[in-house]
Amino acid sequence: MLNNIECTAIDFQTVEYEAAESIVVLLCKECVAGIGKINLPEELQAAVKALINRYPDFYEVESVHELALFQGDKLVQLTIVGCGEGKECTPANFRKAAGAAVRTLQKQKATTAIVAVPLLLKATRAHYLQAIAEGLYLGAYSFTECKGESKPATSCTVQITSAVENGSQVLAQAEAIAKGVTLTRNLVNRPGNWVNPAVMAEEARKVAEAYNLEIEVLDEETLAAKGMNAILAVGQGSKNPPRLITLKYNGAGDAPYTAFVGKGITFDSGGISIKPGENMGEMKDDMAGAGAVLGAVQAIAQMKLPCNLLAVLSCAENMPGGNAQRPGDVVKAANGKTIEVVNTDAEGRMVLADAVWYACEQGAVRVIDIATLTGAVIIALGNETSGIITNTDALAEAIKDAGKKAGEGFWQLPSLPECKEAIKSDVADLLNSAGRAGGCITGGLFIGEFVKEGVEWAHLDIGGTSTATKTAGFKVKGGTGFGTMTLIRYAGTL
Ligand code: BES
Ligand code: MN
Ligand code: ZN
Repeated sequence: MLNNIECTAIDFQTVEYEAAESIVVLLCKECVAGIGKINLPEELQAAVKALINRYPDFYEVESVHELALFQGDKLVQLTIVGCGEGKECTPANFRKAAGAAVRTLQKQKATTAIVAVPLLLKATRAHYLQAIAEGLYLGAYSFTECKGESKPATSCTVQITSAVENGSQVLAQAEAIAKGVTLTRNLVNRPGNWVNPAVMAEEARKVAEAYNLEIEVLDEETLAAKGMNAILAVGQGSKNPPRLITLKYNGAGDAPYTAFVGKGITFDSGGISIKPGENMGEMKDDMAGAGAVLGAVQAIAQMKLPCNLLAVLSCAENMPGGNAQRPGDVVKAANGKTIEVVNTDAEGRMVLADAVWYACEQGAVRVIDIATLTGAVIIALGNETSGIITNTDALAEAIKDAGKKAGEGFWQLPSLPECKEAIKSDVADLLNSAGRAGGCITGGLFIGEFVKEGVEWAHLDIGGTSTATKTAGFKVKGGTGFGTMTLIRYAGTL
């Protein structure tokens, strides 16, 4: 059970449509031919066809058409949900359609449902089955922690018709993944006064204990002893001191480590370079990168994927205060490079500077950092696609590919050496901000300056994708958990 939904897989031969309160048929345009083969009782089959005839655009992704009908003296809810046509008929679109489907089930207050999928008549479509279950679990998500009294939503048991052989294994994977994304979303949605760096450490400890992972939490004194002055500088204006949290997952013997490094600014006021008041509250989500890393490593450990991982959460709160860092300050990062702080609101790259260095120190041969780093990425790519800056094009390709399978979009931005000119400082080695031009690129390149020579590195800017302004597909308004599923799928390729 996750988000009040429990998915099981059921054979087309044994499914009892008569027993369910609600039946949802997931249909792409081409799937219409399969309606006769999924063992639907005749009346229901006729009703599906009537819906299709009445709504010629039924196959549009996420479009929902409902009909209530009596079977004997029992009322049954029948729903068709569109999954696209032709090339649109992808697992990603089925995931979205499943999200829309589960919200319809919630609205109907169904306690038992069958999701009938003609596409799954083919045994080879395990990846579609997985995507559908992910969409059901994630589309059902809601964040109620902050409500004084929360009325529990109706729990619903969902049987998904499928000829996929190891269906229950596939669904176990989907549930582990969705559970990871749910953890990420909960952390992102929690307000800044509930989640500070120490709370992030507690959350990481819970994951470590539940899945038997090694964990290390560096506090402000240890950070100082190790010379990690960049993360310390960001956190010094806050009463809640920084924490650098590292979880270790060993699933592949003595294979080298890949590091996932997340930006964990539990609230970003901008610091002395304070942000405008309007919508400042949204900056409680500035730990979405760290949240994605924690959600991903939890799922990876639950799935026992064969890889070795370091999950590094670089957590601080960016506040103005009597001890806050000032614009113009110069800070020496752990790798010895000095940073001129021209804008205290460019804090994410500073906490990541020390964190990616630390990941390299710990032996990572590959580093992927993920961060709500810039507003500039929204201008460049909008709210559906995250930006990639990398020193290894093949790594960007692998991440884009994992993203496609996860239903999350990525786009690589050029990282020309010429662009590094912009982050050179006259008084120090580096500037922490190079202004508006190519802000997503210069932000990423700054982080790259702290990655050890020879280490593959990619930076994922989720500034535009970490939250959604409306509920659609498998996303629910608020924290999306973006990146979590991509990191999990990427780990599966290691
Ligand atoms: N967390 C913000 C980036 C952000 C802003 C993400 C709005 C999503 C929505 C980050 O710390 C920040 O403030 N970046 C600055 C960088 C600039 C000062 C170089 C930005 O993007 O304005
Ligand atoms: Mn900022
Ligand atoms: Zn920030």
